[in-house]
Amino acid sequence: MEISGSVAVITGGVSGLGLGAASRLVTGGGSVVLLDIDQRGGSSALEKLGERARFFVCDVRDPDAVTDVVTRAAAEWGKIDILVNAAGVAPAQRVISRDGELFDLDLFQSVIRINLVGMFDVTRHVAAVMARNEPGADGERGVIVNVASIAAFEGQVGQAAYSASKGGIVGMTLPLARDLAGIGVRVMAIAPGIMDTPLLAGAPQELKDSLAGLHVFPRRLGSPADFAHLVQAIVENPLLNGEVIRLDAGARMPPR
Ligand SMILES: NC(=O)c1ccc[n+]([C@@H]2O[C@H](COP(=O)([O-])OP(=O)(O)OC[C@H]3O[C@@H](n4cnc5c(N)ncnc54)[C@H](O)[C@@H]3O)[C@@H](O)[C@H]2O)c1
Repeated sequence: MEISGSVAVITGGVSGLGLGAASRLVTGGGSVVLLDIDQRGGSSALEKLGERARFFVCDVRDPDAVTDVVTRAAAEWGKIDILVNAAGVAPAQRVISRDGELFDLDLFQSVIRINLVGMFDVTRHVAAVMARNEPGADGERGVIVNVASIAAFEGQVGQAAYSASKGGIVGMTLPLARDLAGIGVRVMAIAPGIMDTPLLAGAPQELKDSLAGLHVFPRRLGSPADFAHLVQAIVENPLLNGEVIRLDAGARMPPR
């Protein structure tokens, strides 16, 4: 699929990886609809991206809100060609803390609801909109890119909930691709390594440097631009489907 003239919905699109993808798609001649809970971030993203961007407040945990914003997003430019599911949270907690406190079950469920259930909910609604597109080359009607993490494969201490949510995205990639093949929609997942985004903003430089050292080569943190580059490659390459691509400079995460 060509970026130029395309319309993309991007969850978590006002920050980090989602915003990086939005910038690249707009630069390439596409239009974007950003869905996020962060209103202030939405306003500054719109300023940055210009007239081919829209922003709707949406908590992906809320099924009514998702139904509503996908309908509004589809109405903006009359179609949706691309979906990037980048909304996510990454809180860390041990199953049993050093002082014996158990992992908070509400926190566990909240991570799954945002990262996994929310992503699936947006996917099913957007796929239904994509099904109405005129088919392009090979009968293609849409491309969906979900954001997993290398924590799906090598979750670290404290990442039980996060890894479960991202593992769910990895496991869902092939069946989603198989389910949506009938309407000409491809589904891919990207599993980023350690990316320099607001998710890491609170971390001291020392920690960022040591995390960057886990990347084998190049030995630097990944960037939203690196992520956006891969989103573009996935959108443009019609044979990429049903697969998870690690974007991690060869990193394999240690236990902590
Ligand atoms: N930064 C990394 O190192 C890294 C590594 C692997 C995977 N990821 C994944 O990449 C994705 C993007 O992360 P990022 O690093 O850009 O972080 P980020 O915090 O910059 O962006 C995440 C966005 O998701 C939004 N969001 C959170 N909860 C939401 C909800 N309930 N409904 C709607 N929007 C919500 C936030 O407001 C934010 O704008 C996440 O899924 C994250 O798990 C990040």
